[in-house]
Amino acid sequence: MGLLERWARPFSGFGAWLAKLTNGIYRSLGFPGRLFQDLMNGSFLGHSTHGLLTDAAVGAVTALLVLDAVAVVFGADGSGFETASLVVLGFGALSAWGAVLAGLTDHKDVDPGDARNMATLHGLINIVATIGYTVAFFVRLGSGVGAARWISLVAFLLLASGAFIGGHLVYKYGVMVNHNAFSGGRRAKEFTPILPSAELPEGTPTKSAIGPTNLVLVRRGDLVYALKATCTHAGGPLAEGTLNGDTITCPWHGSVFRLSDGAVRHGPAQTREIAYRARISEGQVEVQGPID
Ligand code: FES
Repeated sequence: MGLLERWARPFSGFGAWLAKLTNGIYRSLGFPGRLFQDLMNGSFLGHSTHGLLTDAAVGAVTALLVLDAVAVVFGADGSGFETASLVVLGFGALSAWGAVLAGLTDHKDVDPGDARNMATLHGLINIVATIGYTVAFFVRLGSGVGAARWISLVAFLLLASGAFIGGHLVYKYGVMVNHNAFSGGRRAKEFTPILPSAELPEGTPTKSAIGPTNLVLVRRGDLVYALKATCTHAGGPLAEGTLNGDTITCPWHGSVFRLSDGAVRHGPAQTREIAYRARISEGQVEVQGPID
């Protein structure tokens, strides 16, 4: 077990409580909550919202550090310089609060274990840093420039530690990365038979495969849909999902994908599912693709 994992382990119980709380809040908000959750996960964008907001926050507070260093070392002070520092600090604090919201939304769907412990530690450190920047903003607004600079410096050190753990989360544990990134699905230029049509029941997600690629098939009368069976969010088994209209819902964290082309209808998934064209011909289910 690595050092970070050891440090994060005591936060296991708190992480479980926090994930439950965030889930409960989103559930109580109903459909608007679902849409806000999609916005925070980045399901509309096809890209992590948390990543965008952390870039904005880290960029702003790094600029603040440089401005403060220039002011202290070269005495480049003055009202214009101070106004610029205050605006950069305010923008950084606001972006950081956005990143906290998006991060809490991602955190609730990280499965228990080292990855969630690490996500909890990452979140806690960054929440403390964000509170620090918020305090620094108001202190600076009240002309306490010297004190605000010290608070911002401590917050920067915390934020940098939190960001390091965030990188660990993504690069070591693959949290919120596309779980089909390294396996785009076996290509089939021509329609290829994969299953006798008699073995595909009506309206029931059914597991099949083309070569090494596991698929989930859904039959609706003469129409057949075929998606890769690995959920893009965290690798959940879509063949065990539930059907609802023209969509399938992942059994692990509830991502919803459109059957016809794998588009994300609801998160936490951000990346669309790999989809194939499918048909029934001469008593066989055939697939071709994947669809680009
Ligand atoms: S694995 Fe998380 S929603 Fe599918």
